[in-house]
Amino acid sequence: MRGVSVIRLPDEPATQALGRKLALALRPGEAICLSGPLGAGKSTLARALIRALTTATEEVPSPTFTLVQFYDGADFPVAHFDLYRLSDPDEAYEIGLDEALEGGAALIEWPQRLEGRLPADRLDIEIAIDGDGRTARLTPHGAWKDRPLEF
Ligand SMILES: Nc1ncnc2c1ncn2[C@@H]1O[C@H](COP(=O)(O)OP(=O)(O)OP(=O)(O)O)[C@@H](O)[C@H]1O
Ligand SMILES: [Mg+2]
Repeated sequence: MRGVSVIRLPDEPATQALGRKLALALRPGEAICLSGPLGAGKSTLARALIRALTTATEEVPSPTFTLVQFYDGADFPVAHFDLYRLSDPDEAYEIGLDEALEGGAALIEWPQRLEGRLPADRLDIEIAIDGDGRTARLTPHGAWKDRPLEF
């Protein structure tokens, strides 16, 4: 996927299917950054992706207060960050963003809170509310640019 892809997500199962598809592409050392307004479906996508990497019944609470939750994936660990309540970009590194990317992958909700200090190898996903459904805009950076992804 060399450039931007725009994907229409007509309903919640479509958001979940995108999460599962991205789980097949995500590699250790890489991030997926999820942005979009309240209720866009960021956590829905993250939950489906984490379940695809762990088990279908994995509890995936929103890390709103803890800021991060860690999971043991079948092949590598995955960290789920929700940075909405982050007070300063440094705090993300204090709670383990760098370490998470050393041997594992990271999903980052509210990446705007990092004020541009984003992981180099990342896929940015911006979800917009679009009538009853959603539209996702995927922008690859670093290693994600060479990834074959079909939507
Ligand atoms: N493609 C879609 N079309 C319609 N509804 C969807 C779609 N994807 C998710 N939803 C619904 O949107 C609602 C909000 O989803 P979710 O909690 O994942 O959003 P969020 O972006 O994490 O919000 P917040 O920022 O408030 O945490 C849920 O009820 C979910 O079922
Ligand atoms: Mg959420």
